[in-house]
Amino acid sequence: MTKAHVRGLEMAYDDAGAGVPVVLLHGFPFNRSLWREQVAVLSQNHRVITPDLRGFGETTATDEPATMETMAEDVAALLDELKLERVVLGGLSMGGYVALAFYRLFPQRVRALMLADTRPQADTEEARRNRETLATRALAEGMQPIADAMLPKLLTPATQTERPEIVARVREMIMSTSPVGAAAALRGMALRRDQTDLLPEIDVPTLIIVGSEDAITPPQDAELMHRAIRGSLFKVIAGAGHCSNLERPDEFNRALTNQ
Ligand code: MLT
Repeated sequence: MTKAHVRGLEMAYDDAGAGVPVVLLHGFPFNRSLWREQVAVLSQNHRVITPDLRGFGETTATDEPATMETMAEDVAALLDELKLERVVLGGLSMGGYVALAFYRLFPQRVRALMLADTRPQADTEEARRNRETLATRALAEGMQPIADAMLPKLLTPATQTERPEIVARVREMIMSTSPVGAAAALRGMALRRDQTDLLPEIDVPTLIIVGSEDAITPPQDAELMHRAIRGSLFKVIAGAGHCSNLERPDEFNRALTNQ
């Protein structure tokens, strides 16, 4: 792990392999370890950079809402630091929201996109209210309320009953997240804009991946992106939920490496 000083943050990231640079952005409320299995495979032929986004893992948390644009600008500043002008950019869920915000801000810096278990739409009013409730509770009580609210939806029922090691890994990522960072990201996600109008403007190779049983960003959302992004590739991972890269790493990696 390395730390870069960017935009007033200590930003932690891993940097593995050599070749075309690939940047992978984790979802909420996770950290860069989400990508362990993807880094192992992709770094054989690429340079893979996995940052902890603002407020997650070992990157500094800040109090104010961490908007998707703020996180995208953090990533751009990290790329400046690494002297990387153009990268392949991938994100899962919240990481996908950040990837779309990044593309809108810096389209010339993106060689290709990978959008996994994510959606282009903004939150509904109800979703915003739920995020505020969770943010307030996280600040008062810590991460347990977020773990309780999210764990049943993050993984398929089969993973939850049959694969305790994955449940433990997801719980550990959630429980080790800073409540301040989580609250800031919840408030930032609640503020995010609808990116649907951006999709027809995306003119880089784009891969869209979704778990067939994703209960948070369901396959219909992924299909909507696939229809709107010209020439995009679309891969549904059978039997996977929202954390498709953890639940079915081999299939996910095959989709990434186009095999
Ligand atoms: C994520 O996995 O990043 C979150 O579930 C996304 C969200 O809450 O919208």
